[in-house]
Amino acid sequence: MVQAAPILPLTENCHHYTQLQDVPWDIQKYWKGRFKIFPNYNDGIHLTDDAWFGVTPEPVARRIAEDIWMPESTTIVDMFAGAGGNTIAFALTGYYSRVIGIERDADTLACAQENAQLSDVPDGVITWVHGDCFAVLKELLAEQTQAPAKDTIPSLNRPTTVLFASPPWGGISYSSQDVYDLSKMEPYNLQALHDACHPLPHALYLPRTSDLQQLADILPRKATANGSGTTAVGGQAEESEPLIKVVHYCMHGFSKALVAYYPAAEELLEVA
Ligand SMILES: C[S@@+](CC[C@H](N)C(=O)[O-])C[C@H]1O[C@@H](n2cnc3c(N)ncnc32)[C@H](O)[C@@H]1O
Repeated sequence: MVQAAPILPLTENCHHYTQLQDVPWDIQKYWKGRFKIFPNYNDGIHLTDDAWFGVTPEPVARRIAEDIWMPESTTIVDMFAGAGGNTIAFALTGYYSRVIGIERDADTLACAQENAQLSDVPDGVITWVHGDCFAVLKELLAEQTQAPAKDTIPSLNRPTTVLFASPPWGGISYSSQDVYDLSKMEPYNLQALHDACHPLPHALYLPRTSDLQQLADILPRKATANGSGTTAVGGQAEESEPLIKVVHYCMHGFSKALVAYYPAAEELLEVA
């Protein structure tokens, strides 16, 4: 069973930098844009040094939180909670009775918990989980035979749950590529994310240059008369085709990232 994390203490790796001279050189450009990332930064927002590279800026996180919502959703799982950018935005919508934020790094999770508290997230909406999101999701999708014990999280109700995944964008540098090869993304490539997330509707937060063909090819293809297959990315699709919506999220006219919205595998089986 999956255990909810207690509130973890901030550590020496959790920082609230207040002056440029204290900020490591490689994150200074992010720190200078701190109020775009967290408008309430001065309330005492904490991040680990690594978290600056991956945190979703608040305006983008808020917009995604609107776009991902479906009227039937009551639970959202943020697979890679990081410093809490998206988890907090999901919780602040008021759309979900449960927001599950999974993070495997204890220092980063402590920052996320602190940041949620500073952002006036209502008590009890976010359930934090300290662990590996792939193992945790597997367990949450398994049928439970016993009643959940105290502080454990009950199995997910599939029809009312949606997943969000903002994985690390490691491996080749996405900014130096015209088209980013998602099979080379590290440590989890598109296939690994799809294998884990496909049972539920899910949204993947990916580099803006991600290969759209790869995003389409990951879904099972509907055979056509001439033997080729079709999967639509955005725009118009035949009624029976699976539709992947891809949205660029921009700030000041520049795309920060794209999000690919996928239906659950069962929905795909229905249309195949
Ligand atoms: C790009 S950041 C997520 C940023 C987050 N959306 C935010 O706004 O703060 C990716 C995070 O995933 C965490 N992570 C990487 N692999 C993980 C795994 N297998 N399970 C849980 N968390 C993981 C990393 O520690 C990192 O904090």
